[in-house]
Amino acid sequence: MAPEPLQSDAMVFFGASGDLAYKKIFPTLQSMVRRGRLNVPIIGVANTPWTLEQFRARAKESIQTHGKFDDAVFAKLSTLLQYIAGDYTDPATFKQLCTAIDGAKRPLFYLAIPPSLFATVAKGIATVCQPEHARLVLEKPFGRDLGSAKVLNHTLHQWFPEPSIFRIDHYLGKEPVQNLIYFRFANPFLLAGWNHRHIESVQITMAEAFDVKGRGKFYEEVGAIRDVVQNHMLQTVACLAMDCPHDNSHEALRDARGELLQKIRPLNTQSVVRGQYRGYKQEPGVAADSRVETFAAIRFDIDNERWTGVPFFVRVGKCLPITATEVIVRFQPIAHPVLDEAQLPGANYFRFRLGPEEVIAIGTRVKKPGERMVGESAELVAHHQPPDEMEPYERLLGDAAMGDATLFAREDSVEAAWRIVNPILNDKSVPIEYEPGTWGPSDRLTPPGGWQNPEIEK
Ligand code: BG6
Repeated sequence: MAPEPLQSDAMVFFGASGDLAYKKIFPTLQSMVRRGRLNVPIIGVANTPWTLEQFRARAKESIQTHGKFDDAVFAKLSTLLQYIAGDYTDPATFKQLCTAIDGAKRPLFYLAIPPSLFATVAKGIATVCQPEHARLVLEKPFGRDLGSAKVLNHTLHQWFPEPSIFRIDHYLGKEPVQNLIYFRFANPFLLAGWNHRHIESVQITMAEAFDVKGRGKFYEEVGAIRDVVQNHMLQTVACLAMDCPHDNSHEALRDARGELLQKIRPLNTQSVVRGQYRGYKQEPGVAADSRVETFAAIRFDIDNERWTGVPFFVRVGKCLPITATEVIVRFQPIAHPVLDEAQLPGANYFRFRLGPEEVIAIGTRVKKPGERMVGESAELVAHHQPPDEMEPYERLLGDAAMGDATLFAREDSVEAAWRIVNPILNDKSVPIEYEPGTWGPSDRLTPPGGWQNPEIEK
């Protein structure tokens, strides 16, 4: 008998008339078709009563607005599209879907819908369509705290085993985040020093110069900690700090990330500073007395042999002076008898710019010409790439369609990340107000040597 094909042979996405589909999914599908990575029926499902022609028109408008529209590629994509209008609670919707995917052995179901509907749709797929080797792709958030994440995972496992669940954290699909892992393990000089004996502190800044972009209602439900710390930031910390995976299998990398997250100490309110930009309360959908944070600075501690005593600081926020995500790994300053100066804190570091462009740089000291052994700072840029032209969504959907789960968040790491932030989620204190365009209350919680603010890349 021929082996089962690995590649998904149909792609279904729920939430086809929604915002995410409009902004991200259609442009991604066109890119996948352009690269020859997608040539299977694509079935959009939503409750908007569109005809197929209206659905195609929506796809076209979406790509023209948010992607790089290409006539020939779009024509090909159009022939793959199908549309089902229906209610997710109605078995008739799923019966129609079964007919549409008829014969598919490994259909991929992408749930670009609110998490409150995950269980209903997963059940509909499993009980009505009963596909044998289905793959389920989910958008964050996976729950809103540890308890709800466990319930959600348990619910989904009634119908889908863990290996067929793909939880998207688009940070894991970013090329610079993968390069972080590559760079760490490909350079022996770095392997030897990547621990508490040499590293003083780590800081990550995820700064966004824009506000909540009209998503006030959504943001009120999450705040910065649920929106980007529990997922993107903690997965980045895991990639930075994990031990070397045992091999290059899908699961070994996920094991290494999960094991690291298990070692991060749960937070308490002393390790967090929350801020809110002035004007947030006036955003549509935001409560006049909202205490939701749009900024957070957090100190994480990792209780394992490698990282004992090394603080990991994470700072995220909206309406900050720049849009950039950057990691700074600082080495411990050491006094040396040869030098006529004390080593400056923070002079020796690795800098990883994770977005919008990609940079890997090394902060050094070099001697100033003259008789004395005194120096100046110099930064060596090892790598500078413009923003990756393959969007994380394309990489991730392509991987899920091949059954490769390496870049997806597994149940254990999602729950471990919730365990870390859980104690601070119900903090009802008033966040510190900050002026848009400033670094917020960064000075209330600072790494040794202070924050290194990301700047416009030269
Ligand atoms: C999303 C958050 O997950 O990530 C947004 O919901 C945030 O609030 C976005 O703006 C940032 O992603 P990126 O790739 O632009 O850094």
